[in-house]
Amino acid sequence: MPPPPLILLLFTFSIPISSSFVAAAPPQPPLRHQSHFTKRNYHLKNDNKLSDSYQQYFEITRPLPFDTLIPSCTLPVFSNNFYNTTGLPPSTVDYSPPANCTWSHVSLHLSVASNGSQYDRIAALWLDGAELLRTSTAESTAVGVFWNVRKDITRYSSLLRQENLTLSVMLENVVNDVSTSVYRLNLTFLYYDTDSNESRSNGVNFPLSLFPLNKISTVMKRGKKPVNSTLNRDENSLNLYEKPANLIIPVSGNGDEGFWFRIENGSDVKYMGIQIPSNTYKAVIEVYVSFHGNDEFWYSNPPDSYIDMNNLNTKRGHGAYREVLVTLDDNVVGSVIPFPVIFTGGINPLFWEPIVSIGAFDLPSYDIELTPFLGMLLDGKVHSFGLKVADAISFWLVDANLHLWLDDNLKEVQAMAIKYSVPSINLERESKFHQLDGSFEIEGKRESEFSGWVNSSMGNLTTYFYQKLKFENTIKFNKDGTEKVVKQTVNVKRKLRVESNTGTLISSTTVKRKYPLKITSLTLAGSAKNTYLMFTNLEHSLTEKKSDENFSSSLVNSQQSGGWMFVRDHDVLSGAATTHQRYTYKDDVGCYSKTVSAANGELRNDTASLLCSSSL
Ligand SMILES: *[C@@H]1O[C@H](CO)[C@@H](O)[C@H](O)[C@H]1NC(C)=O
Ligand SMILES: *[C@@H]1O[C@H](CO)[C@@H](O)[C@H](O)[C@H]1NC(C)=O
Ligand SMILES: *[C@@H]1O[C@H](CO)[C@@H](O)[C@H](O)[C@H]1NC(C)=O
Ligand SMILES: *[C@@H]1O[C@H](CO)[C@@H](O)[C@H](O)[C@H]1NC(C)=O
Ligand SMILES: *[C@@H]1O[C@H](CO)[C@@H](O)[C@H](O)[C@H]1NC(C)=O
Ligand SMILES: *[C@@H]1O[C@H](CO)[C@@H](O)[C@H](O)[C@H]1NC(C)=O
Ligand SMILES: *[C@@H]1O[C@H](CO)[C@@H](O)[C@H](O)[C@H]1NC(C)=O
Ligand SMILES: *[C@@H]1O[C@H](CO)[C@@H](O)[C@H](O)[C@H]1NC(C)=O
Ligand SMILES: *[C@@H]1O[C@H](CO)[C@@H](O)[C@H](O)[C@H]1NC(C)=O
Ligand SMILES: *[C@@H]1O[C@H](CO)[C@@H](O)[C@H](O)[C@H]1NC(C)=O
Ligand SMILES: *[C@@H]1O[C@H](CO)[C@@H](O)[C@H](O)[C@H]1NC(C)=O
Ligand SMILES: *[C@@H]1O[C@H](CO)[C@@H](O)[C@H](O)[C@H]1NC(C)=O
Repeated sequence: MPPPPLILLLFTFSIPISSSFVAAAPPQPPLRHQSHFTKRNYHLKNDNKLSDSYQQYFEITRPLPFDTLIPSCTLPVFSNNFYNTTGLPPSTVDYSPPANCTWSHVSLHLSVASNGSQYDRIAALWLDGAELLRTSTAESTAVGVFWNVRKDITRYSSLLRQENLTLSVMLENVVNDVSTSVYRLNLTFLYYDTDSNESRSNGVNFPLSLFPLNKISTVMKRGKKPVNSTLNRDENSLNLYEKPANLIIPVSGNGDEGFWFRIENGSDVKYMGIQIPSNTYKAVIEVYVSFHGNDEFWYSNPPDSYIDMNNLNTKRGHGAYREVLVTLDDNVVGSVIPFPVIFTGGINPLFWEPIVSIGAFDLPSYDIELTPFLGMLLDGKVHSFGLKVADAISFWLVDANLHLWLDDNLKEVQAMAIKYSVPSINLERESKFHQLDGSFEIEGKRESEFSGWVNSSMGNLTTYFYQKLKFENTIKFNKDGTEKVVKQTVNVKRKLRVESNTGTLISSTTVKRKYPLKITSLTLAGSAKNTYLMFTNLEHSLTEKKSDENFSSSLVNSQQSGGWMFVRDHDVLSGAATTHQRYTYKDDVGCYSKTVSAANGELRNDTASLLCSSSL
């Protein structure tokens, strides 16, 4: 990285930064309870002029499969300005589906605008206590920023079809002399009837039509059965063609402080007792999670011994292993190492203008197959579902939705568990340090296997579920603790196989996910008191491959950011940053690829294409 041009240093503005990556570096910035700082007035521009235009921020994703269709109904459901909302219950509104509307698919469209200075905020949206979206906000400028979040919420159809439910939105904000900006939110639900001819357009309504409808007709692939369209696919489900569940039961809090559970430490478990209908033939639990406070950058937290021995003024410790665990009657039935979503004030806030980090506007949720446990659940009794975070420090926001599929033809289905094997995670930790320099390694692996049969009107089907989770984290401090290098890789492989009792294969699905992360930062003391110069590079990505006997898809979403900032206390006095992102999605029907660059707050290159090269 070339030395920063001097002229920029004359230039004063303040931008939120995270103190996480300077925790070990002298001089220490003052550590406050917030992990983020606010941009007071301006944001960066390449030509050193202050930005003067209302700007759109983005999370790069692909268009939704039914973006090319005309919605049969559009329902503005919620609109609110979030001022001083800290400590208040969520904002609520009554929800009923649009009257006289035929629909099969639904998407949500959240539009947010704000101006002035503000911390980034976590937010979520619940329908009847079931979470539909976890999101976070961009940090604004004086003239303002705005952004849109679109999400396929078809999987929540059973709730979306009910009348008189409560829709709740939580976004804790503080407006005062320093933090001036108010978050203005509008939420609209779009209902599509994918079977109706009238809903079909030529894609002209949406500039980013993913697969023009004429391309979504039957596609033949060698060795595969014909695939009609991607429309009926549930993006999140392990079984790619799964229909939405018939019943969704939230595993969530009482709503006074949002429906999420706040988890403070590794022994904090939140429970909920649930009795499921006796005609349930399939069950999946979907986990939503975000990490905050001293665990916002958990993957970069050194062990407590390093912090104690060096007398560091930080609580961001406890090592870098965290795992969200789902328990059923106190037995672990699933685990998630979450994708490390970085909020817009994180690492170097200049990276996230105007392209935010992967997942920042639509945090991923995680599905855990529970069908093999129906043998335990179908005894007509209340069972205890638990959520916890291994090794957590304060605080995590976690909740879940239990998706249940019910047999229309039977009052009761029979089920029995065949195999249950969740060995405890095998963790190896290695710490070496002398004063501020050292290295810390953690490796973990967990292989789980469950199976069970369910005899329903579809026959006696046996479900086998297998998951292998691998986790590797290394944190190194060099140069008297002024250089910090964090490397982490998470690998997840999941297989779901369903067989009839005669041994015929009904379905077989495999999902492989990988999310590597590398952060390098170098902090140099400035000549003036409480100033320092910080150079940071970040590379992270999310790779996902899914396949079953009829369909396969792959996603590669990667970001590389680099930059520097000159900081006094908590204010960035100057800086420069670039972010490059490549997003490539492919399946048997089509392909979507986007390459974007941003430099110093401006979009430099933005190309989208439906033509992808054959190699990924
Ligand atoms: C928010 O609360 C602060 C005091 O905590 C008060 O000064 C300010 O006026 C309030 N802002 C709004 C918009 O209500
Ligand atoms: C409902 O839709 C049908 C068919 O489009 C129409 O004939 C009827 O008038 C509608 N009813 C209401 C109450 O809008
Ligand atoms: C919300 O909707 C209102 C009314 O249509 C509109 O004036 C306002 O600009 C919208 N705000 C955002 C953030 O989309
Ligand atoms: C936000 O923008 C509006 C209109 O553009 C302006 O009136 C208001 O003062 C701005 N607020 C802040 C905090 O800058
Ligand atoms: C929903 O509320 C309305 C108005 O109170 C009522 O007329 C209607 O019957 C309710 N619907 C259901 C399904 O309870
Ligand atoms: C819908 O499409 C089918 C076949 O493409 C056609 O036979 C039918 O007439 C169409 N219906 C309407 C209302 O356009
Ligand atoms: C694809 O769609 C056509 C017409 O809608 C239907 O006849 C055919 O059975 C479908 N094929 C599959 C594999 O679902
Ligand atoms: C963990 O957090 C819970 C909930 O805040 C608290 O009751 C408990 O005392 C904490 N346990 C430890 C060991 O700190
Ligand atoms: C399996 O379920 C079917 C109903 O779908 C029922 O007829 C059959 O008796 C069940 N098998 C046994 C062994 O209970
Ligand atoms: C269902 O199939 C499993 C394995 O094939 C078998 O052990 C079980 O007895 C069957 N259950 C019923 C009700 O037939
Ligand atoms: C694959 O396609 C066949 C024929 O359409 C269907 O019966 C089967 O259920 C599909 N498999 C999966 C896993 O969706
Ligand atoms: C923009 O992206 C396209 C496609 O990746 C590439 O061909 C082009 O060189 C890029 N332009 C710049 C200025 O980086």
